[in-house]
Amino acid sequence: MKILVLGSAAGGGFPQWNCNCTNCNGVRKGTINARARTQSSIAVSNNGVDWVLINASPDILTQIRANPALQPARAIRDSGIAAVMVMDAQIDHVTGLLMLREGKKKLNLYCTDSVWDDLNHGLPLVPVLSHYCGVERHAISPAAAGDTTSFAPIEVPGVAGIRFHPLPLKSKAPPYSPHRANPQMGDNNGLLIENIETGKTLFYAPGLGEIEPHVQAAMEKADCVLVDGTVWTGDEMITLGLSQKTAADMGHLQLSGPGGMIELMDSIGARRKVLIHINNTNPILNEDSAERASLAKHGIEVAFDGMEISI
Ligand code: MLT
Ligand code: MN
Ligand code: ZN
Repeated sequence: MKILVLGSAAGGGFPQWNCNCTNCNGVRKGTINARARTQSSIAVSNNGVDWVLINASPDILTQIRANPALQPARAIRDSGIAAVMVMDAQIDHVTGLLMLREGKKKLNLYCTDSVWDDLNHGLPLVPVLSHYCGVERHAISPAAAGDTTSFAPIEVPGVAGIRFHPLPLKSKAPPYSPHRANPQMGDNNGLLIENIETGKTLFYAPGLGEIEPHVQAAMEKADCVLVDGTVWTGDEMITLGLSQKTAADMGHLQLSGPGGMIELMDSIGARRKVLIHINNTNPILNEDSAERASLAKHGIEVAFDGMEISI
């Protein structure tokens, strides 16, 4: 099973169009050792031809161009993307759906009820797409009535050999969601992606606000974790004068300090540990920074666009 990192940055990408922070300015001018990154998305395949796109970023067209494996060219109009699964209804994870509007069949979309609701109201991409390819929705639903920690496993037709185990996470619904201040199961989700033949798994969660026991368990089970590396400190955006929001306000756990992601990574034992959804303010983007060196000491990698993980 192959996991392809299409985009490793948080919303805004790196560099962000209007940002002149040390990182954005530095990567633009080539004065720091860092690579540009597109917005958060991965693709998964077992045979290298048929793919499930996990999150559809506003950069999807650039990402498809950069990854020819997603375009097997079997017919005059064709795509290797058999279905799209979205983890939440955030702009950086769903607006790429609009770019897939030329599809010849309805777009297969896997999402929870909460996300489906947002995509029909707060950010009504589904009604808009009904004027183009249309959307065939496949529900991500609780495994059993009353189960609040797991969703039923999913196998996507046409993408053999992979089982998806979505799980609900505590993070934040988008600002345009009626659930923003009133969290619901399914607002934000993670995914344990299983290679059916080997039983090996990768845990993917680009937005992780709080580590609940079922999340810790999934991370301790996975052979590889690919998780929220948005910010180094909780008040990073505030200190730089870029925002009034803390990481927690946005539903992200900071990397450093007590209760941070590095501490959590240390607690889950030996397995491959990779950070994704990196905000452009995060000092780890500078490959020569002390923060990046500290990650290496903890055995933690930083995802980059085009990174391939085999499980
Ligand atoms: C987030 O995860 O908080 C987002 O990246 C916000 C955004 O898309 O602007
Ligand atoms: Mn995001
Ligand atoms: Zn910046």
